[in-house]
Amino acid sequence: MTAALPAAVRSRFPSLEQTDHLAACSIAPRSIDMDQALATMLDDLARPGFWGAAEEQVSDAQRRFARLIGAEDDQVAILPNVSIAAHQAASGMRWRRRRELLSTTAEFPGVAHVWLAQEQRGARVRRCGTPTGQISSTDYLRAITTDTALVSVPAVTYRDATRLNIRRIADAAHAAGATVIVDAYQAAGVMPLHVDALRCDYLLAGTGKYLLGLPGLAFLYARHPKATTPTLTGWLGRCDPHALDPTRLDFPTHARRFETGTPSVAAAYTAAAGLSLIETLDLAAVRTHTQRLLTSAANRLTAQGEIVHWPPTADERGAHLALIEPHAWAMAAWLEGHGIAVAPRRNVIRVATHAYNSDSDIDLLCDAIAIYRVKSRAHTPIGASR
Ligand SMILES: Cc1ncc(COP(=O)(O)O)c(C=O)c1O
Repeated sequence: MTAALPAAVRSRFPSLEQTDHLAACSIAPRSIDMDQALATMLDDLARPGFWGAAEEQVSDAQRRFARLIGAEDDQVAILPNVSIAAHQAASGMRWRRRRELLSTTAEFPGVAHVWLAQEQRGARVRRCGTPTGQISSTDYLRAITTDTALVSVPAVTYRDATRLNIRRIADAAHAAGATVIVDAYQAAGVMPLHVDALRCDYLLAGTGKYLLGLPGLAFLYARHPKATTPTLTGWLGRCDPHALDPTRLDFPTHARRFETGTPSVAAAYTAAAGLSLIETLDLAAVRTHTQRLLTSAANRLTAQGEIVHWPPTADERGAHLALIEPHAWAMAAWLEGHGIAVAPRRNVIRVATHAYNSDSDIDLLCDAIAIYRVKSRAHTPIGASR
């Protein structure tokens, strides 16, 4: 069933009656489905057999995510967060003849730190993009060489929401003999994402943002799971986790070889609920909807004298926009006091859209920002990034 946008979806989020939620790039809003999932978890906890029920929720989330990205169940592992998923994906790299790990200045810092830690194993990190974190697909295409062993590409950058052409980058990387890892945390759940179309070798995503669950769970897709033996492990990474044999370290051929210990159970229940909700949506229609809302926001804010990061073509835009604001936390706190949730980061206010957002959310935001400017008289944009 495909839900009409946004009224049918919005009814799943009573919390939107109090708050104009434009912050899914940071955290998903509370939904009826999330509440029900947590109530189910507490009911299960009060009954015998809790662990069996919890394991079923974890497997349900894993299967639904695999379906969402066009993967096989056996190609997806469950991990506590994207940073660990990145670590696991890179752990198969040898860093001998080819040492270069090509990343970007726009990489999410936690993932960038995992790449820097690979230097302890012999990797040499190189970053494409400007020092202030602007990047285009062409920057990647120019930077890939025969020294490149691994290319890490965010599907959409976390700060400015630049959407990269993964397929073109992956084709160039593969032609040069490199492996491709995609951090899709800012894309999964709000736009179509198919691993065969992207042609990536690994894909990472967490549950707490556009996938409409709680944080505390992440997915690692591996095209050829058995090609990598991870360095970090735990009892869930065994061929038969319930054998509980402390003397035997075996790795199944499927992606569960990347798993470690018990994931967040609350996050697993809500992940399955969030993914079920996403399954009712036509993600191509969601993308059209979010692009329309963001175009309207960008036009209005620009007309109000604001400076927004707005990539030149629709293909290069993610599901949020970045408004340049040196005092981002102060502005976000003021907006929060007026019932509007946005996501501040260094020098920017991020305005994120999803299926549940409507034109009136954008109107409310733009009006509030205009009032904020008059009240604070602190309109000192630091200059458009590009
Ligand atoms: C693109 C991206 N990758 C990774 C993360 C963080 O992942 P984790 O905290 O699950 O390691 C974030 C934000 O939290 C993000 O926006």
